[in-house]
Amino acid sequence: MADIKNKRHSEWSSRFAFILAATGSAVGLGNIWKFPYITGENGGGAFVIVYLLCVVVIGIPIMMAETMIGRRGRQNPVNAMKTLAQEAGADSRWRYLGWLGVAAGVIILSYYSVIAGWAMAYVLKSISGTFIDGSAQQIGGFFDAFVKDSGAQVFWHTSFMVITMLVVVRGVREGLEKAVRFLMPSLFILLILLVGYAMNTDAYDQGLSFMFDPDFSKITGSSILTAMGHAFFTLSLGMGAIMVYGSYLPKDVSISQTAFMVAGADTLVALLAGIAIFPLVFANGLEPSTGPGLIFQTLPIAFGQMTGGVIFGTLFFVLLFFAALSSSISLIEPAVAWMVENKGYSRVKTCVFLGAGVWFLGLGTVFSFNEWADFTFLGKNIFECLDFLTANIMLPAGGLLIAVFSGWVMTRTQSRDELQLNNKGLYYCWFILVRYVSPAAVFLVFIHVLGIL
Ligand code: PFF
Repeated sequence: MADIKNKRHSEWSSRFAFILAATGSAVGLGNIWKFPYITGENGGGAFVIVYLLCVVVIGIPIMMAETMIGRRGRQNPVNAMKTLAQEAGADSRWRYLGWLGVAAGVIILSYYSVIAGWAMAYVLKSISGTFIDGSAQQIGGFFDAFVKDSGAQVFWHTSFMVITMLVVVRGVREGLEKAVRFLMPSLFILLILLVGYAMNTDAYDQGLSFMFDPDFSKITGSSILTAMGHAFFTLSLGMGAIMVYGSYLPKDVSISQTAFMVAGADTLVALLAGIAIFPLVFANGLEPSTGPGLIFQTLPIAFGQMTGGVIFGTLFFVLLFFAALSSSISLIEPAVAWMVENKGYSRVKTCVFLGAGVWFLGLGTVFSFNEWADFTFLGKNIFECLDFLTANIMLPAGGLLIAVFSGWVMTRTQSRDELQLNNKGLYYCWFILVRYVSPAAVFLVFIHVLGIL
């Protein structure tokens, strides 16, 4: 895997290394924690269909566009955008798009770290046998008490941030590639095991039909926006994370194939998580719309009942922690790369500075679940505001501009040369999607939500 340290033009050791890193970035809390709870809050099947549609029509083409811009620009997102804009004879202010991404990454990491801290705490709870034979009420009670304990929240948030920054300081080459290589398949196997468990509950059919039988009367403008925003969030798009990783991609690797593989793996993990969780929700008389605590209130019930549940439960939360870590690294990498390459700061100084800033911002989320729970803006607490601002506005807006950039600003010679799609039809399909379809779709959803349409 390429060393993302100070070398500018280093490359991944192989196509597989890029796929691993990009999948590591994409598969994270978004798939296992966020996808099930927002599906629960937005009524199930119809929401899932809109989300899948967004992945195919908007997500995959934009993932190809981001990888392409990164590889052609060969620098951090701010510089890559500037260089390519100049190459195409366009305004160098396109670099501000890189900025938008850097900011989004920093804000997302601030709350991502708090939730990843929950996974860490649950490793300990699981290993100490807290969940054994726990009823749904007891497990729910643990979670409520845990998030209300602001001291514990600060502790776990701090721990996760320290670990993230330690990994980022060393560059992603050491450790992470090996870790992801082994952890991703393990997470996958464990999810299959949980699906197997869910199949044996009475409510398996009910869970499946909640997830896959669409009832379009439950779809509102805001749930379409959430589904679209989640397609960006879960694929790590719209903020330059994939762009940075793409900048280390060797020239001979097929961008389209890798994008399909990453998006496919990501979607599969999310669907498996949902299939494992909803039967448990219904089997235990819980509500699918409980919100961010959903997986922490349901999966431990299963772990508490199954043979070997202490081991599987512990393993699950360890893997969730690693999935979060490989994503959090990519959230901060655009900001780190920019400070190192453009400001000339050392990697250590950059990490201390950025880490402290993100940690501080994260306190807003920490206290959203306790001390400041009543502090709301437009009915949303601080965590919900940050999540909405980033996932539903900044990432889709970033993605829209990336699509416009690659479909309208970059010349066809540039994009054709970089994508190297031998099949002409496939190239035109991509081109039409990024030039017209994706920008129009994001734009329409935005104006629909604003009430103009
Ligand atoms: N894709 C990650 C997840 O699903 O958990 C979150 C994420 C990582 C979003 C990196 C954006 C990003 F740039």
